[in-house]
Amino acid sequence: MLAGFWYRAMPAGRVHRNQLYKAMLLEIPLVVGRDRAGHPFALRDACPHRGMPLHCGRFDGEELECSYHGWRFDVHDGQCQLIPSLTSDQKLRVDRIYAGSYPCEEQDGFIWVYVPEPAPPGAGVAKPANAPDPAPQVEKFSEKYKLAYLTADMPVSVDHGIIGLMDPAHGPFVHQAWWWRSRHSIHEKQKNFEPIPNGFRMNAHTPSSNSVPYKLLRLYAAADSVTTTIDFTLPNLRSEVIRAGKYWFSSLTTVTPITRNQCRIEVVAAWNVFGWVPFGTELLKFVFAKFVEQDRRTMELQAEGLKHNPHLMLIDDADRPAKWYFQLKAAHLEAKRTGQEMKHPMAGPVTLKWRS
Ligand code: FES
Ligand SMILES: [Fe+2]
Repeated sequence: MLAGFWYRAMPAGRVHRNQLYKAMLLEIPLVVGRDRAGHPFALRDACPHRGMPLHCGRFDGEELECSYHGWRFDVHDGQCQLIPSLTSDQKLRVDRIYAGSYPCEEQDGFIWVYVPEPAPPGAGVAKPANAPDPAPQVEKFSEKYKLAYLTADMPVSVDHGIIGLMDPAHGPFVHQAWWWRSRHSIHEKQKNFEPIPNGFRMNAHTPSSNSVPYKLLRLYAAADSVTTTIDFTLPNLRSEVIRAGKYWFSSLTTVTPITRNQCRIEVVAAWNVFGWVPFGTELLKFVFAKFVEQDRRTMELQAEGLKHNPHLMLIDDADRPAKWYFQLKAAHLEAKRTGQEMKHPMAGPVTLKWRS
């Protein structure tokens, strides 16, 4: 679980003003909410006094009052505003006490939380950290577009969630459907990859015929005019952009570590196509939901097999992206340890071949 990055904490539509919600990221319990003006916030879900979960407190849309002894905190920077038990001659500096607070942003229908490294202490006098960059966004190529999301909990570590996501070889076995494909449609494929900062890119002018939006996009444009780019970047971002003339479909999928044995896959898609297809959005959501459910079910079963730490292997070329993921992660951690620039595990472009 990598700290020092933005993570999706909750779908924004589930977070209403003046209310408090529990969330968890990287085994850190959080209380998430929205102030009176609608701005989201995230605090460590433990009062710096004696650890009472802050989500049990009262919230007036501005300050959060702990339910145990009534200490009050500003929800955005976590600064303590009031300790009701203090008498007028007691000089404790209330304003130097902070509940751990996390940078928080709303982006493309999600509340994102920046988990700094090291994590802010639950109790104490630490001021909130600032995030070095804004939260990631789904790439968009026109003013008007539609947006939809899907979320699914997986009972496996974030590593298994991520390598499951980038694994090309499970498609014919896990994602079978009579209207889609069967294991008899397996054929040899060749894809070009290249290093990008913190990750790698798959470039294709003729996208994988297994890609859902690609099959739908072919309704709009000649197959050879469709291009697709899939990027993976640390810690957990997979972005896919498919373009056909003025039409585009773009998605940003994240695998969020909740605990060390639990992750959540979230797909947010934006597009300017399928406007004329009756129920286009519903159709797309249905197809995606089906795929994600097949993955979720598979990982649920896989978790059984992983319980007793069996030996595992990664093979070339189908598992090479998974190997790159582990190498990128190791390189990132090594760079942080030494303070030097990250050494990218890929020296240059690579072509991979597999059957799927
Ligand atoms: S535990 Fe929160 S005010 Fe005492
Ligand atoms: Fe899958």
